[in-house]
Amino acid sequence: MSLFYKVGTSVLRSLPAEKAHVTTIKLLRKGLGPTAPRRDYSMLAINVGGLSLPNPVGLAAGFDKDCDVPDAMLRAGFGFVECGTVTPKPQAGNPKPRLFRLPEDEAVINRMGFNNKGLDHFAKRLTARQGRPGIVGANLGANKDSENRAADYVTGLVRLWGKADYFTINISSPNTAGLRKLQGADAMEDLLGRLSETRAKLAGDDAAAPMFLKVAPDLDVTEVDRVVEQARTYGLNAIIVSNTTIDRPDSLQSAHASESGGLSGQPLFEKSTKLLSEFYNEAAGKIDLIGVGGISSGEQAYAKIRAGAKAVQLYSALAYQGPQLVTEICDDLIARLRADGFTSIEEAVGTA
Ligand SMILES: Cc1cc2nc3c(=O)[nH]c(=O)nc-3n(C[C@H](O)[C@H](O)[C@H](O)COP(=O)(O)O)c2cc1C
Repeated sequence: MSLFYKVGTSVLRSLPAEKAHVTTIKLLRKGLGPTAPRRDYSMLAINVGGLSLPNPVGLAAGFDKDCDVPDAMLRAGFGFVECGTVTPKPQAGNPKPRLFRLPEDEAVINRMGFNNKGLDHFAKRLTARQGRPGIVGANLGANKDSENRAADYVTGLVRLWGKADYFTINISSPNTAGLRKLQGADAMEDLLGRLSETRAKLAGDDAAAPMFLKVAPDLDVTEVDRVVEQARTYGLNAIIVSNTTIDRPDSLQSAHASESGGLSGQPLFEKSTKLLSEFYNEAAGKIDLIGVGGISSGEQAYAKIRAGAKAVQLYSALAYQGPQLVTEICDDLIARLRADGFTSIEEAVGTA
């Protein structure tokens, strides 16, 4: 890492968590982000849920809620960037403080509550980058005060159609009361039914943009086959496993461990990877999987791939390690594939 980024990262780390994040987004918007070295990553190219990714390491939702800096993050080396969660109307989110670092645990707790500038701003940002290379997805959510939450997702899909490269249906955030109820069988039936009908209408005879479902790590394993079946029935293209957890493992050391909200980072790795394996047992060959939760090294990214993920996403580790982590993970993945005698990511998927 250059001295510039070393100093920058440690200054940002000394600020309160949310202030550091807002400052980072501002710097990135000014073009002060890193540029990944040009390397041959052809071994890492993979098709996931209908997307052709140059490498399988994506930026998870929540870092760039308003789609302000997707190109800066693509330049930093991510193979795809998921912006959002965006809700139809702008909303302030929960009172501050609502974002906490747990350094001793290499973890984060957040209860942001879908703070975002709404669909109009998000759509403008996507329109402004149209024609540029790189895959940018829109993670859709519902407003806290919405009387018809399913309708909010449909509104998002319609408004951003033709602008985002893919859509993620986020029904797994723990910070909007009742949102996770949309993972229940009847609610999911209704939501996915409406979305797939709308998508078919929007696409007409053209190829439809991929639609992914993002689930909670706290999902009961007995629900996995049902979720896979419903996702398949309604033509979803991949399942993202997983969002943050409401669990608080006994192992947590940090002062902020008992803050309410979603826990991410290291303490989420094992739990989310286990659920990913459960999904792979049900989903292999039927629907693609994207693994998220606690990835902070090539070793952990590779573990997700071997557990069944065709691609991975990360967020929390960026706060501790900085953006050069993406290149480190890609380099490490290539070394691991070679050591195991694989010639592509695809060959390693689900081999654990
Ligand atoms: C501050 C923060 C905000 C987040 N906001 C969102 C969000 O708006 N939508 C979403 O689907 N996931 C959100 N997430 C969850 C991440 O996308 C990811 O699923 C989770 O943090 C696990 O990955 P990680 O351990 O690499 O951070 C957020 C996570 C953090 C730390």
